[in-house]
Amino acid sequence: MLSKFRFLTAGESHGKCLTAIIEGIPSGFIIDPDFINKELKRRQGGYGRGGRMKIESDSIEITSGVRFGKTLGSPITLVIKNKDYENWEQIMSTHSEDYSEEKSFSQCRPGHADFAGSIKYNHKDLRNVLERSSARKTAIEVAVGAVAKLVLQEFGITCNSKIVQIGKSTDNFEQEIDNAKSIGDTLGGRFEVTFNNLPIGLGSYVHWDRMLDGKIAQAVMSIPAVKTVSIGNKDAFSMFGSEYHDQMYLEGEKIFRKTNNAGGIEGGMTNGEPLVVTADMKPIPTLKKSLNTVDLRSMQECEAHFERSDACAVEACSVVAESRIACVLLDEFLLKFGGDSLTEIKNRI
Ligand SMILES: Cc1cc2nc3c(=O)[nH]c(=O)nc-3n(C[C@H](O)[C@H](O)[C@H](O)COP(=O)(O)O)c2cc1C
Repeated sequence: MLSKFRFLTAGESHGKCLTAIIEGIPSGFIIDPDFINKELKRRQGGYGRGGRMKIESDSIEITSGVRFGKTLGSPITLVIKNKDYENWEQIMSTHSEDYSEEKSFSQCRPGHADFAGSIKYNHKDLRNVLERSSARKTAIEVAVGAVAKLVLQEFGITCNSKIVQIGKSTDNFEQEIDNAKSIGDTLGGRFEVTFNNLPIGLGSYVHWDRMLDGKIAQAVMSIPAVKTVSIGNKDAFSMFGSEYHDQMYLEGEKIFRKTNNAGGIEGGMTNGEPLVVTADMKPIPTLKKSLNTVDLRSMQECEAHFERSDACAVEACSVVAESRIACVLLDEFLLKFGGDSLTEIKNRI
């Protein structure tokens, strides 16, 4: 797959830190750490989050690729320290002599990577699976997404998101979450992300793996707990063609539409309308109300392992989705306009 912008992340949920190395950001872009920190705070917020959010307030450290507030064109390294690490130093140690069975567990949590992950990587201690499969790593992804957003903002591209539904409620989200919590249960929900002012022609129709809708679907579907992703009007499958398709009109030389059922993408490319992505998150799988499972050590049925957890994280998930989509759009933007510096890109546009 063609790519101009890429990144890798590393880090365990209770390890020392989360790290990302980003490649492909041209030189000359202002990187404001306060903006990145605000995005991290948004990810940690939202009604229904668990105890960890009270312990940790994430903040970003930029250790390469930025000098005097601007990108150099070289790889950018971002680090978020896990403030809870001091309580986990021994349990998460990289040294063999620190091993103890304390905090290891073998009661699979249904809905998590535990069962398949333990078989795939041959782990007896499910903590070895939990630590990286946890959604904690979305914190560093949001930091990378914040850098992508800062670059896109230079060209007037902005985004926002909103919660559409939590559980069965479309209006009283807090009440719905309180009810679930009171019975030791959890909830998922639906959210919508919108990107505005995108240039026409990001993505392409020439190959299946260059279609923008496909890239966005992959980026959002792979967020932990996301189960459906759609672009534009979710009722497309049940509408008449004459109702669904966004007809085109002329005002002078300007072509315009009165509807945006396509959600900003036609033929795998942005069409100049706002990009609208909707996604559904399943209920959080760690719950106080016990779930039946199997202990892989004793091979007995038991209750699933419970660890401090969110009751609902749909709002946080929407921030992660914004970040993932920003990364896809930035890659497409750089593929289309190219350039090694902000000035060069501005001249090309
Ligand atoms: C922002 C965010 C926070 C999450 N917080 C929790 C949590 O506190 N407890 C939990 O069990 N799952 C949580 N999840 C969901 C799990 O990470 C997810 O269900 C699990 O990794 C399995 O992935 P899958 O549902 O995509 O198969 C969270 C997901 C996101 C996106």
